[in-house]
This record gives sequence, C-alpha cells and structure tokens, in this order.
Amino acid sequence: MLESGSFSSFAAWRQDRRERGAVRPVAFVPTMGALHQGHASLIRRAKLTEGPDLEVVVSVYVNPTQFNDSHDFDAYPSSHERDLEVALEAGADAVVFPRADELYPEGVPQRADRVNFGELTSLWEGAHRPGHFDGVVAVVRSLFHQVQPKWALFGEKDWQQLAVIQRLAELEFPKLNVVPVATMREENGLAMSSRNARLSHKDRSQAGKLHSTMLSVVRSTEVLNAVAAAKLKLEKCGFELEYLALVDGISMQPSLRPKASNRLIVAANFGGVRLIDNVSLGDS
Ligand code: PAJ
Repeated sequence: MLESGSFSSFAAWRQDRRERGAVRPVAFVPTMGALHQGHASLIRRAKLTEGPDLEVVVSVYVNPTQFNDSHDFDAYPSSHERDLEVALEAGADAVVFPRADELYPEGVPQRADRVNFGELTSLWEGAHRPGHFDGVVAVVRSLFHQVQPKWALFGEKDWQQLAVIQRLAELEFPKLNVVPVATMREENGLAMSSRNARLSHKDRSQAGKLHSTMLSVVRSTEVLNAVAAAKLKLEKCGFELEYLALVDGISMQPSLRPKASNRLIVAANFGGVRLIDNVSLGDS
C-alpha cells in the first residue's frame, strides 16, 4: 500500500485485505483515470449497493489495447494523485493502480483477441473503432478475474460498452451483477468525459448543443424525421458526425419504429475531440 487506500497492484490489495481479516464482498468500478464527477457518481452508487458491509474498489488503468488510435492513447490525461483524491472523496475503500503485467501476464498484445457478440460488437463503436471492444473485453475480463467482484458498475454514458459488458457477464461471470449508472452532465448538458479536458473553453461551452439537439429529437413527435434534421443542424454547428442513430437499447440494431426502450446514440468529432453520448426515448 502506498498511502491509505492506494495500491500499486491487485496482489498488494489482496494481501492487505487478508491481513485485515476483512474479506467483504466487492463493488467494483473500473476506470482509466482522469477521474471526474461522472466516475465519482459510480463510486457513490457503489457505496449504496447493499448496506455498509461491502468494499468499494476502484481500478485506474489506461488500457492500451482498446485504443484504435495511438495519438488518442498518447494524449490520454493522467493524474494519479488527483484520481486517488477524487475516488477516496467519493467513498472508495481501495484504489488500485495496476501494472500492465498483472492484467496481461503474457505481455500486452498488439491487438486483443477478437470478440464477436454479433451486432453488439460490430455496429457503431464496433464499426468506427475497429478492435476497440476486443480490448475492452480483454481488460475487463482480466480485471474481473483479479477482483472477483459481486457487483460491477458501468456508466450509461458508454451505452454500447455497457451492453457488451452485460453480455460478457452473462457468458463468463454469471454470478456478477452489472449495475448501470446514469450519465453525469456538465451544466450545459455535455456528458462528462476525461477527453473534455482537451476542448478549448469556447468549444466546451458550444459542445452542449449536442445534448440539447438530441433531447429535441427524442421529444419530437416525428422522431425519425427529427434525426435527419438534427444531423444537418449538428453538421452546421461544426460537429463531424460519425453516426447519429435511433437504436434498440438492448440489441443495438437500428430502430425503424420508435419506442420507449430505444436510445438515440451519437459519435461526433468536435474541436478535435471525439464525443459520444446517448439519450433514452423514454426520457422524452
Ligand atoms: P472510463 O472512460 O474511465 O470510464 C469508466 C467508467 O465511468 C465507465 O463505466 C464509464 O461509462 C463511466 N463514465 C464515464 N463518464 C461518465 C459520465 N459522464 N457519467 C456516468 N458514468 C460515466 O470506460 C472505460 O473507462 C474503460 O473502457 C474501462 C471500462 C475502464 C475498460 O478499460
């Protein structure tokens, strides 16, 4: 243990809890660091999972195998001390900063093994970020093996990632409860994200248009027409859209007939930063 609650490996964390004789069930929040209030909301929610008799464990590891763009990986913000502070403040009992060899004992692969969960992994983020979900699944599987959590909390902000992890859990970790947590937003509606720090002040305030436009779509009486109009509007405002689509919230297939369980999902480049977001049709 480096300082109270901070560990440089899962092995050190496991040893510490054995020494304390307190092996409580774990609510687990995996992250890539640069923690913000979105991450903190997952940690707070973890704390409420099942009374006080559990241990909230946060991991901070920037996973190279899920970055399909090496510039994005190199530019990913890192702030060890601040991460520890944010996690402990939100109620984490242990914050683990593992090394790569604990998660990838055979070395970090150039590309993780291919994962095929059908359209869950092939559409949208799967199509626009080849290999991304392969890396996410590889690291999350390894994290779950290290931590053996009873609960694992994931943000709705990354809706498709959440669906992929739910499928992974069904297939390989049947006793694990995957808990979804609502998206935390900045005042202007922009979904909080570690990458927002790369936006200029002006772009950060303009980026709120993404969420307000999405809300106007799901509140429209003619949703599919409104999607088409929103694409034009967003492009005009400087958002370079990769996709804006109404999908089934579970299968991720395009929806042809809007219903409450649908999500409007988006990926767009704005001010040099790739933003993703989603809203529920049921929230309208
Ligand atoms: P990261 O982007 O750090 O996100 C960690 C968790 O925080 C994810 O479950 C994500 O959905 C959630 N999160 C991020 N922004 C949020 C917001 N504004 N509101 C609510 N939750 C939010 O997602 C990853 O890391 C990685 O892919 C990981 C799962 C850790 C595997 O490497």
